[in-house]
Amino acid sequence: MLLENLNWRYATKKYDPTKKVSQEAVEKIVEAARLAPTSSGLQQFRVIVISNQELKDKIVPIAWGQQIVADCSHILVFAAWDRYTEERIDQIFNYTTDQRGLPRGRFDSYTSKLKDLYLPQTAEENFNHTARQAYIGFSLSITQAAELKIDSTPMEGFSSDELDELLGLKEKGLRSVTMLPIGYRDAEGDWLEGMKKVRNPKNEFVLEYA
Ligand SMILES: Cc1cc2nc3c(=O)[nH]c(=O)nc-3n(C[C@H](O)[C@H](O)[C@H](O)COP(=O)(O)O)c2cc1C
Repeated sequence: MLLENLNWRYATKKYDPTKKVSQEAVEKIVEAARLAPTSSGLQQFRVIVISNQELKDKIVPIAWGQQIVADCSHILVFAAWDRYTEERIDQIFNYTTDQRGLPRGRFDSYTSKLKDLYLPQTAEENFNHTARQAYIGFSLSITQAAELKIDSTPMEGFSSDELDELLGLKEKGLRSVTMLPIGYRDAEGDWLEGMKKVRNPKNEFVLEYA
């Protein structure tokens, strides 16, 4: 079923603006991202859910004029920590130990290693790593949407600086990485609908070392 749904999904180019995704389905798509594995369990990204039409319209020029973001039902923005900090690392480890009924400090030697690794790096180097975690969640949301037969469009085609400004992400210590408009396709208006899915042949894609 999963593979069938992955074959069904495609990067939808035209949405029917009259069709809205239910709140329950939106929550499932977000939950799939929340459950994503992340490096060291640091959960270095957040999801911003936008349904406000005025805000979606404002994103069109930021997204290189792609009308997709205005016509879709919701936009999920995947935004990652702009850098690692000691507080951020401690906060998530304290939260995890508290939730598991373990003593705080149980992972001190591990968190010290993480701090030694990440804190001397530049913010840009840090972001290169945190953004990669956001892609894991992004991918799971794409998958969950397909499982619910909800259309989506993975998107990197936007100015992240302008989007961050519009959404006030900088103040939250976040930078946008990707967007995922979701909704229901306008089958007649979408040139990509029904086209063959093209992927590298398996024998080229897999390099087998038996
Ligand atoms: C990270 C990422 C960024 C993308 N950015 C855009 C985008 O800005 N606009 C768009 O129409 N499609 C975008 N796509 C869609 C890809 O072109 C599409 O996924 C790819 O051609 C494979 O086709 P399929 O998704 O229909 O199977 C993006 C896809 C990914 C994974």
